[in-house]
Amino acid sequence: MLTEKIAIVTGAGRGIGEGIARKLAQEGATVVCADVNETDANSVASSLGHGAIGLRLDVSDSNDCDALVKNVHERFGRLDILVNNAGINRDAMLHKMTDEQWQAVIAVDLSGVFFMSRAASRIMRSAGSGRIVNISSASWMGNIGQANYAAAKAGVVGLSRTAAKELARSQVTVNAICPGFIDTQMTRGIPDAIREQQVAKIPLGRMGQPGDVAAVVAFLASDEAGYVTGEVINVGGGYVL
Ligand SMILES: NC(=O)c1ccc[n+]([C@@H]2O[C@H](COP(=O)([O-])OP(=O)(O)OC[C@H]3O[C@@H](n4cnc5c(N)ncnc54)[C@H](O)[C@@H]3O)[C@@H](O)[C@H]2O)c1
Repeated sequence: MLTEKIAIVTGAGRGIGEGIARKLAQEGATVVCADVNETDANSVASSLGHGAIGLRLDVSDSNDCDALVKNVHERFGRLDILVNNAGINRDAMLHKMTDEQWQAVIAVDLSGVFFMSRAASRIMRSAGSGRIVNISSASWMGNIGQANYAAAKAGVVGLSRTAAKELARSQVTVNAICPGFIDTQMTRGIPDAIREQQVAKIPLGRMGQPGDVAAVVAFLASDEAGYVTGEVINVGGGYVL
């Protein structure tokens, strides 16, 4: 159970982030739903109960990240769980990828995780406890058309493992989850033929649902997971086997 825990979930306005926010709230946490889309953040928060709130946040803006973490700390007096889930993709083959496509994905998917983790770690170090869960991707291992996204998600793995080492002495755990092929708006734009090809590669025979990822986040965020840190956990139906 996560009763009395205060959690921030970035990108909680829809998709996997919404699923994570819902699961943490079901477990009893008070969830701050932070999203660049404020309307979506508020609408998810209002459906959660347990004192959940929605706040606008652009994770690619370090001032925004510092201000949001300060706001949450002042409002609730603590911060127990940070889930860095916000992410975007701007796929293109390497030889066609624009500077803008590269920079946009690095800014949100990698710098965003750094800005939020840095701000949260200051509070968690002083408290001597905390949980950070970062949403990477199976694509970190390399995926055609995703040089920007794979680089950012591989960066998240390195950042998570380093933060895990640095924060261990403060009893703060940091882990990364690599979802495989999950049914959200991010994957709904993929043409049917390619979707079918991808699903055919999944040993468990189906796309994942946000709840499949959320269940693992809830475990890593719990007190019971206190001896698990620096791990990189695939949640992909065996996709990488
Ligand atoms: N869907 C998949 O198959 C899959 C697979 C592996 C990893 N992931 C990762 O899971 C995470 C969630 O993906 P999803 O499929 O739910 O995507 P999604 O596009 O459905 O949702 C992403 C959410 O992040 C928010 N967001 C975007 N930019 C933001 C910013 N700058 N600041 C704050 N919020 C921002 C969006 O408004 C949206 O609510 C991402 O990090 C993604 O890379 C997804």
